[in-house]
Amino acid sequence: MNKARKLIIAGNWKMNKTVAEALDLVKGIKRELANIKEVDIVVCPPFTALSDVSKAVLNTNIRLGAQDMSEHNFGPHTGEIAAGMLKEFSVRYVILGHSERRQYQKETDDLIAKKALAALAASLKPIVCVGEMLADREAGRTELVLRTQLRGSLAGLSAEQMEETIVAYEPVWAIGTGKNATPQQAQEAHAFVREQLAAMFDGTVARRVRIRYGGSVKPSNARELMSQPEVDGALVGGASLEDRGFSDIVKNSI
Ligand code: PGA
Repeated sequence: MNKARKLIIAGNWKMNKTVAEALDLVKGIKRELANIKEVDIVVCPPFTALSDVSKAVLNTNIRLGAQDMSEHNFGPHTGEIAAGMLKEFSVRYVILGHSERRQYQKETDDLIAKKALAALAASLKPIVCVGEMLADREAGRTELVLRTQLRGSLAGLSAEQMEETIVAYEPVWAIGTGKNATPQQAQEAHAFVREQLAAMFDGTVARRVRIRYGGSVKPSNARELMSQPEVDGALVGGASLEDRGFSDIVKNSI
């Protein structure tokens, strides 16, 4: 597939996998995807498996991501994990503002922006998630929601920092539901996100930033979604928990 930007496909394992299961999964992914150079491949295990998975992916084409981090660098923040701690395990990417955290941990755009700045200061690449709920889409508020989330969650980033950042468009109604956005819906939303980035930063930055789609990506719909010109990759939840499913998504996207 001829793309303007290199595809990036990440598995978000969420709160799944013991260390043993994580190692098993990553072993399968390594075997299936050993020769792939066309796509940046990332796995995002739970914190507890980062140490072992980081050793398992050493000197491979698989990169490591975390699912969240604190906006603080250290101190009295019980239960939190700082960017510097992730760096100890060669983590390169960190998912921020996933809709599950926005919904259940009440994360705000303001907090997500602080986390993004802390990640960038530690040379981690933030994957900032945005996306509308079903009620927003049905009420014609998709663009308003995306504009508000982008302006809030990326507030304070310089143009250089934005280029290091990845945006994930994840319509909440498509996450874990089996009902993916149509390729046209994804393309339209991504084009809108890019337009907003051009307005917030500039055209060059907007053209360089990778915008990936998330929400019920599977081997059967990956090719059509990834072939949309504005779609630069995928953030995969459910289908990333099994080596064949995740690997087939990557292979079908090339
Ligand atoms: P899903 O999750 O692939 O299971 O829909 C996507 C995500 O939450 O990133």
